[in-house]
Amino acid sequence: MSDKDIAILKYDGKEYELPVIHGTEGETGIDITKLRAQSGLITYDPGYGNTGSCTSKITFVDGEKGILRYRGYPIEDLAEHGKFIETAWLLIFGELPLKEDLARFSALLTAEELIHEDLRHHFEGFPSHRNQPMAILSAVINALGSHNPDLNDITDKSEFFLAVGKIISKVRTIAAFSYRKSIGRPFVYPDPELSYCHNFLHMMFSIPYKQYDPPIEAVKALSLIFQLHADHEQNCSTSTVRMVGSTQANIFASVSSGICALWGPLHGGANAAVIDMLETINNGDYTIDEYIEKVKNRECRLMGFGHRIYKSFDPRAKILKKATHDLLQHGFSDELLDIAMALEERALSDDFFIERKLYPNVDFYSGIILRALGIPVAMFPVMFAIGRMPGWIAHWYEDYTNPNTRINRPRQIYTGETPRNYVPIDFRK
Ligand code: CMC
Repeated sequence: MSDKDIAILKYDGKEYELPVIHGTEGETGIDITKLRAQSGLITYDPGYGNTGSCTSKITFVDGEKGILRYRGYPIEDLAEHGKFIETAWLLIFGELPLKEDLARFSALLTAEELIHEDLRHHFEGFPSHRNQPMAILSAVINALGSHNPDLNDITDKSEFFLAVGKIISKVRTIAAFSYRKSIGRPFVYPDPELSYCHNFLHMMFSIPYKQYDPPIEAVKALSLIFQLHADHEQNCSTSTVRMVGSTQANIFASVSSGICALWGPLHGGANAAVIDMLETINNGDYTIDEYIEKVKNRECRLMGFGHRIYKSFDPRAKILKKATHDLLQHGFSDELLDIAMALEERALSDDFFIERKLYPNVDFYSGIILRALGIPVAMFPVMFAIGRMPGWIAHWYEDYTNPNTRINRPRQIYTGETPRNYVPIDFRK
């Protein structure tokens, strides 16, 4: 055992030896699992910026160097050569699929693309024209559990495989149906002849007797967006999935909780907020300089900028910036692109952003691509959820199959009142 394997904590005249654990990429962490029992101390880390909640073999991120790898493969390679479904397999099952794996997986996704007609009635209970597709998505994914009671307690790999196929396939159908519901249009059933992303665009935009046939560039761009969102280690929604899963809640309930966590503007809602921001500039409410001043005066944040982990650049943002240009060269257009580029350039040369290491994140350009594909802003977090589903499933399974998983239960430092006597209501002031 070397000096690098033990950390020493001194407190109140005593010393405590804490083991140091090492990851495969040189990451180190102090193992404090016995700290409270030995010393009575707990750690305090609001926002969990310094807390490792698990060990994981799925995704590696080095925020200082701008590195993102799924199961060891650089995101740049996967984005260039792979497709979303292949990436989903890699994340969930640990290796790139063989040809026969991919064929088996594609066949399962096709077989599972319809939802039970009873589930369709859930959509009727949501108010029309309220544009709440995330509420519908999380509720209906959760309800899938009640339609598949045999999969609520997964006991072998074949049951897991089936659950994966159901969720990955149906999330796309449910997402598209939630959109159709929100605009009062009839549901369009999936077409078994179409690929995963093509089929989604068909369910979103075909109308009875008029098939939507997207250009290949649109299908590729959508696959790329899903791929780049497919996992990002212990982000808020993934940690939520692991936390819910740690109670041994079923896989459907666990990933549904991830959808709820993703909903907020600081996580999956950020690309919609980017579009809002760009539109206020486009409408003439603010110039770029005025907007930057508002951000520096802390009246608002520059949406699509900054990241808890990435402190030099977000590799996903680089890939998407290029993809945005490629797409717009193929006949797609978006008036917000020029504003986005000018805003990015202005921010990157400003000391406020330089000092705080704030760079564009994945959401800065993803909204522009989604808009160019005709996806409405209310659907943006839903698109993120479809993409993130393989990551949530992979993390849920990693915990589920780990015999050392314990129910997640953080501690707190209580700062409220000390004991006091009950006051009857007539004597309260
Ligand atoms: N605009 C302006 N200032 C910012 C921004 C921003 N977007 N992000 C961080 N800061 C400032 C913040 O005010 C603080 O300054 P100071 O130290 O002077 O008070 C400093 O930078 C550190 O900020 P923080 O809030 O401690 O950073 P965090 O790691 O807790 O927050 C974040 C990360 C992503 C929530 C934040 O950067 C943010 O709100 N960004 C805008 C929303 C956004 O784009 N979210 C998408 C994240 S990527 C998708 C995903 O992986 O979920």
